[in-house]
Amino acid sequence: MTFRRTVSASDPAIGGLASPVMEVREAVARRKSIRAFLPTPVADETIAGLLEQAARAPSGGNVQPWRIYVIGSDTMPSFLDHLDGRELEPPGYDIYPPSLWEPYRTNRFALGEKMYALLDIPRDDKAARLMRMAENYKFFGAPAAFFCFIDKKMGPPQWSDLGMFLQTFMLLAVEAGLETCPQEAWASYSDAVHEFVGAPDDEMLFCGMAIGHADWDHPVNALESDRMRIEDWCRFVPPSII
Ligand SMILES: Cc1cc2nc3c(=O)[nH]c(=O)nc-3n(C[C@H](O)[C@H](O)[C@H](O)COP(=O)(O)O)c2cc1C
Repeated sequence: MTFRRTVSASDPAIGGLASPVMEVREAVARRKSIRAFLPTPVADETIAGLLEQAARAPSGGNVQPWRIYVIGSDTMPSFLDHLDGRELEPPGYDIYPPSLWEPYRTNRFALGEKMYALLDIPRDDKAARLMRMAENYKFFGAPAAFFCFIDKKMGPPQWSDLGMFLQTFMLLAVEAGLETCPQEAWASYSDAVHEFVGAPDDEMLFCGMAIGHADWDHPVNALESDRMRIEDWCRFVPPSII
């Protein structure tokens, strides 16, 4: 007997989103954070289908702690209007630990430097860097998005479940011909987002997720983030090939 679920491209359970040629490793390799989108709308039905599939992500005890609020293409303009003139808020949680240390500090720094070099923004041009950062709060032009919330009483294990859900969504989006950018930057607009989506008080915002079609002509989308070597973060015990 096998309990393994088999899914074929024609299986209605995957909502017709499957491509018979896309392998998981291809979706993993192709997914990257997109920071300039075309205005081409994305249908609510497409997003709902991807979310439903993404909910096959595992979660400890199957508690399924993700709480998702979608800003569809029709609603996006009024959401962006809602933010108009609002000040950034202190983030609802520490996006990074204070005074990030090595090697994490360098990883983060390298990403920023690579991005600003592509955009021709020098280190001392703080205004241009801030303006670029502010693109976060337009979802980088994405026509659709969602916000991922979690019950405030949930702890680190359930927050990690959110990551599984989000990555599953992003891979499915690649398969469906869409691009994404997960965005913790929205933690600095927690109250504004909370108000707009009408989330209950016992939920808190983790991140946003921009969804759409990439503007491949925009230089920021040429960004390829680096990864540390496996030797830097993995050991076989006892040591064998690493
Ligand atoms: C939970 C989460 C939050 C993120 N928040 C932001 C964000 O606010 N703004 C942004 O430009 N990128 C954000 N990113 C994207 C990361 O910078 C990106 O994943 C990392 O640099 C690796 O690059 P890649 O996604 O292109 O592989 C976030 C990623 C994750 C997983």
